[in-house]
Amino acid sequence: MTRNTQAFDHWIRTRFVELNSRLEVLYAEQEDRANVEGIGEDIKLLLEAEGRELIASLLVEGNTDEGFDHAFDLLGNVGLYMAACRRHEITEPSRETVSPLTEASALAMHIGASIGVTPRFATAHLTTHNRAKQGVYKRFTNLDAEKLFVDYNTKGILAYKRAADALLKIQPLGIDHPIAYDLLLVAKRALRDVIDSNKVLFQELDADDFFYCVRPYYKPYRVGSQVYRGANAGDFAGINVIDMLLGLCAANEPGYSQMLVDKFLYMMPEDQSILRDCMRRTSFMDDLLNMTHLNHQAWYQQNLTAFLEVCELHGETAIQHHNELVSKYIAQPAKHMEQHHISKVTASGPPLPVLLNSLEKLRDRRTAAKRDDIHTRFNDIGLLKATLEVG
Ligand code: HEM
Repeated sequence: MTRNTQAFDHWIRTRFVELNSRLEVLYAEQEDRANVEGIGEDIKLLLEAEGRELIASLLVEGNTDEGFDHAFDLLGNVGLYMAACRRHEITEPSRETVSPLTEASALAMHIGASIGVTPRFATAHLTTHNRAKQGVYKRFTNLDAEKLFVDYNTKGILAYKRAADALLKIQPLGIDHPIAYDLLLVAKRALRDVIDSNKVLFQELDADDFFYCVRPYYKPYRVGSQVYRGANAGDFAGINVIDMLLGLCAANEPGYSQMLVDKFLYMMPEDQSILRDCMRRTSFMDDLLNMTHLNHQAWYQQNLTAFLEVCELHGETAIQHHNELVSKYIAQPAKHMEQHHISKVTASGPPLPVLLNSLEKLRDRRTAAKRDDIHTRFNDIGLLKATLEVG
């Protein structure tokens, strides 16, 4: 790390958190908690100016070629600063055509393009690739709600990745391999971890604090002239690896592939290549459907049972995400929000009903629900279940 990089990192971990937290206290004191206009203007000026000065020195330093990890980390720091400016409406993409954060935009675009990721902060910066210092990792604020949210996003992502890794290891063996069974058990355990971790998040996270003080840092913002959608916990390959290897979702379904295309640059390069590889492969469900005539063999019964249990658990995590997390923390508070703030609720940009509709379709694909308007594996799961020997 260069001295300039270190100075900026130190600022992000200390003063930046202090300034954001002070602003959050002021916003929360208002009757309309969603308002940021005209509040704490002196603090906002400090935030913008201090960050700008540190970033200007980094821009002059140019490409210091210190390897991927440092570049990715620095991009995250610039991104946290730009996201906070957006949160406090120091910048506002619908008000501007180009980001007024000229130096930050230039640095973010330079790094993003050179390492093959989007030039904004992504989920990995706050979760799986967020280096702690003396037990504290990077955050926007010192609020408990933010720490809880990031902790449980990280736990959820890591557990999904464990499930995906186990399923990927079945690929070279084949779903009819005896040891595929062991790997399906690993996937089951990992998906149970997702369920347990989502449960705690749902019980512990305060809905208002999340909605008013955490979520706003995940809004879309402009880098240079382009608006980049917000970060969300789904920006890693594992969840889609599970979807596609199980066969619950397919890369050639327009609604689903649209989402994959949109998320590529929001993922780490290693995740991008895992996902690309997975998009070309056949699913275990299709393989099993071609083997139903072998249903009297012991491995078939054992592996199919475990496969169906993995599908069931994956569906359960999707139900939790949609019916509990999205509903309690996004859809319901949005209903009570003052109308003039409503356009700014989601992290991805589309109006809330459109977003909810696409998340609902994802849930129904993952649960293989019966739907007439989109393709799900409802019939195929039924067919496979019918080949199980009872008793
Ligand atoms: C996407 C909300 C926690 C996994 C999304 C989206 C929303 C959302 C609204 C759509 C993108 C957007 O924001 O515009 C929430 C809320 C959470 C939460 C309110 C908790 C308070 C989690 C956790 C995970 C997760 C813990 C587990 C890793 C995903 C995934 C996507 C996503 C994978 C991408 C769409 C998909 O493939 O399902 N989330 N989320 N989320 N979230 Fe969450």
